[in-house]
Amino acid sequence: MKELTPTQIVEELNKYIIGQNEAKRAVAIALRNRWRRQQVTGVLREEIMPNNIILIGPTGVGKTEIARRLAKLAQAPFVKVEASKFTEVGYVGRDVESMVRDLTDYAVNMVKSEKTEEVHSKAMEMADERILDILIPPVRKAQPVSENTETEEVNEAFQNEKTRDWMRAKLKAGELNDRMIEFDASTQPTVGMQVLGPFGMDDMGINIQEIMGSIMPKKKKKRKTAIAEARVIMAQEEAQKLIDMDSVQREAIERVQNSGIIFIDEIDKVAGGGKAQGPDVSREGVQRDLLPIVEGSNVNTKYGVVRTDHILFIASGAFHVSKPSDLIPELQGRFPIRVELNSLSEDDFVKILTMPENALLKQYSALLETEGVKLDFKESAIREIARIATEVNEQVENIGARRLHTILTTLLDEILFDVPDKIPSEVVKIDAPFVKKKLDKIVKNRDLSKFIL
Ligand SMILES: Nc1ncnc2c1ncn2[C@@H]1O[C@H](COP(=O)(O)OP(=O)(O)OP(=O)(O)O)[C@@H](O)[C@H]1O
Ligand SMILES: [Mg+2]
Repeated sequence: MKELTPTQIVEELNKYIIGQNEAKRAVAIALRNRWRRQQVTGVLREEIMPNNIILIGPTGVGKTEIARRLAKLAQAPFVKVEASKFTEVGYVGRDVESMVRDLTDYAVNMVKSEKTEEVHSKAMEMADERILDILIPPVRKAQPVSENTETEEVNEAFQNEKTRDWMRAKLKAGELNDRMIEFDASTQPTVGMQVLGPFGMDDMGINIQEIMGSIMPKKKKKRKTAIAEARVIMAQEEAQKLIDMDSVQREAIERVQNSGIIFIDEIDKVAGGGKAQGPDVSREGVQRDLLPIVEGSNVNTKYGVVRTDHILFIASGAFHVSKPSDLIPELQGRFPIRVELNSLSEDDFVKILTMPENALLKQYSALLETEGVKLDFKESAIREIARIATEVNEQVENIGARRLHTILTTLLDEILFDVPDKIPSEVVKIDAPFVKKKLDKIVKNRDLSKFIL
């Protein structure tokens, strides 16, 4: 994996997120610093702390999106949690450490699928040999009775090998795909323990399912499928055998510790700020629980102990009511970098609609292209959509770029329904008058737009 420089990280983020340059810079530096730390030798390395970040900004302006894309770029294990989830009285929700467990689960899956990819061709070969064994049973070694039978046997073995080669070629070419085959598939013993397991088992890092699974003998089940499917199933089984789960777990833990990213959403909801009302008694409690994890501690997971010292934490919140300074001081100290994200303007909306690689207009165009219909968004229409989004955000509630989703579904509703029955393959032009005709009435009527847009 090649390491991206801060400039390159920002360039990559630019492909998906419009504006918010300050936030992009901050996360780019944090990510690069992690790599720099790994290059530092000696005792100092352990002393260098991650640059935890708080992203501050209104809803729907790209906070989560930035963190998510960053994790993708870094190919790092990533989880997103809502801080408010931990506030329920008596922690009906999950305990705070569970975020580290989730992250480790994620990392294990990540490493496992990488390893599976690595052994894929080998597993495929082995699956093919298994299939060939079924189709052409290997010659059994008989007791040699005379000279004659021995040569006969050699001859038979030779013939067998030839047929095998011939069949193997056909198998690889997919010519046998539709033929049915019966084979032994190993089945994971299913244990109905999920319901029976005592509360909080998962939180203690114990997986009953897995323990029971390893105690009970692996059952073999006869299955009959088409060869194409059998190849896939067998390749999976062979891959399982080829992968050393111990090393997968070790690598996963290593990755969590050195490159894991935890995104804590709605951190402002657990910040003080006035008297706590109703069930929110435990806000500060949640902060206190978060503290050891962010500061660095050992968390038991079912794959082993994970140290959280160098996990990167990115917190985010609107901070409308409370301020970062309402957090307990220890926690503030652990999130030294604060960046504000801006509200999005009409111009930003125009760009968001068209420029990102996953831009909404591109998404809808791709959807309809599968039916042979080409959506042709005129410049004027895009402007108009952006204008309406801004207007509704101002009048009803500012939900940022999410407004574009709701507006587009309303705008394209008819087209999406009429393709392909009433609108056969053709070009559908969408211009400003089309947008106005479809949306103006709703926008003008505040009550209506509250419900629809
Ligand atoms: N600056 C932006 N550029 C491109 N797309 C954006 C931008 N801001 C938001 N979006 C889009 O809007 C949607 C919501 O954004 P996101 O999830 O990042 O919001 P958020 O800032 O985390 O809000 P919240 O505080 O409610 O969690 C995403 O689908 C994202 O693609
Ligand atoms: Mg978010």
